[in-house]
Amino acid sequence: MFAVTAARIDADDPLSGLELGEHPEPNVPGGWTTVTVKAAALNHHDVWTLRGVGISGDRLPIVLGCDAAGYDEDDNEVVVHAVIGDPDAGGGDETLDPRRSLLSERHDGVFAERVAVPRRNLVPKPAALSFEEAACLPTAYLTAYKMLFEKSGVQPGATLLVQGAGGGVATALILLGRAAGYRIWATSRSEAKRDRALKLGADQAFENGARLPERVDVVMETVGQATWAHSVRSLKPGGRIVIAGATSGDAPPAELTRVFFTQLSVTGSTMGTRDQLARLTRFCEQTGVRPLIDRTLPLAHARDGFQAMIKGDLFGKVVFTP
Ligand SMILES: NC(=O)c1ccc[n+]([C@@H]2O[C@H](COP(=O)([O-])OP(=O)(O)OC[C@H]3O[C@@H](n4cnc5c(N)ncnc54)[C@H](OP(=O)(O)O)[C@@H]3O)[C@@H](O)[C@H]2O)c1
Repeated sequence: MFAVTAARIDADDPLSGLELGEHPEPNVPGGWTTVTVKAAALNHHDVWTLRGVGISGDRLPIVLGCDAAGYDEDDNEVVVHAVIGDPDAGGGDETLDPRRSLLSERHDGVFAERVAVPRRNLVPKPAALSFEEAACLPTAYLTAYKMLFEKSGVQPGATLLVQGAGGGVATALILLGRAAGYRIWATSRSEAKRDRALKLGADQAFENGARLPERVDVVMETVGQATWAHSVRSLKPGGRIVIAGATSGDAPPAELTRVFFTQLSVTGSTMGTRDQLARLTRFCEQTGVRPLIDRTLPLAHARDGFQAMIKGDLFGKVVFTP
């Protein structure tokens, strides 16, 4: 079958290890099943894999891609939960299983015509969402859902700052947060993206590092080093940073004095559970929110999507169709 794989790791030139071509059919262990992929979404995770972050060379070649929607073996329309883990080993939460992985880390991912996944990882796709929209949910939108509704600790009406408006997780935070009644402020490096953030539902948009009209209750951080100091300074005393990513680097000064003196909390967040993914699909059905897709490309043109992501030339998700 046709697939997009990470064949080599190169921290500085990630695209040099990207290969498109024939790959063996999925191996299907007991308790697993095969999904025929109709649409798959790109995440920064796929770029990290090519850079060698979160994976070792002995796992290569491996099919990339965490997020897919398609048909199960009985022709039901499904969304694929990307977390491979045992809820019992994580106290009821598979994201806390110490051995959990994401599709494309230990097992072949979804940038292929077919993918093998544990049976429990199939979630019904709502008819109201297209395959392309549904494929955006399992990583970026699920991460945003958990950041907002499990980790933020604040109720609708609170003010949330989303750093880096254009990203997949960031646009999800704006859309889901707005629909749930939070006041969303956003930052972006680009004026065009700030304008688009406002159109998407952000209440105000600012340049990176800008002084805000007032301090916020929570900062949603996925940019990391480039925005960390601003995140720490933008919070009310007792406020919280929910961090799910560090695209621009993960070693900024920790600002410990400000953290303890203004009694901030820093809360890490990763992915979500299968049940949260099922609730997210219902949230989209009930509110009418649809994932924002920057572009849809044939899987055979996947390199163009990776290139746009590496350049930061995106607003929303890149979707591939096999
Ligand atoms: N913990 C988890 O479960 C989880 C799940 C999903 C993603 N993540 C992580 O979250 C991060 C975002 O993922 P994504 O898929 O949304 O990526 P993406 O679509 O490529 O978005 C990249 C984001 O980073 C911002 N950015 C990049 N470089 C920047 C810089 N130098 N200065 C300021 N902003 C910069 C962009 O903002 P502007 O272009 O608007 O300025 C944009 O918001 C990644 O690091 C990813 O690994 C983690």
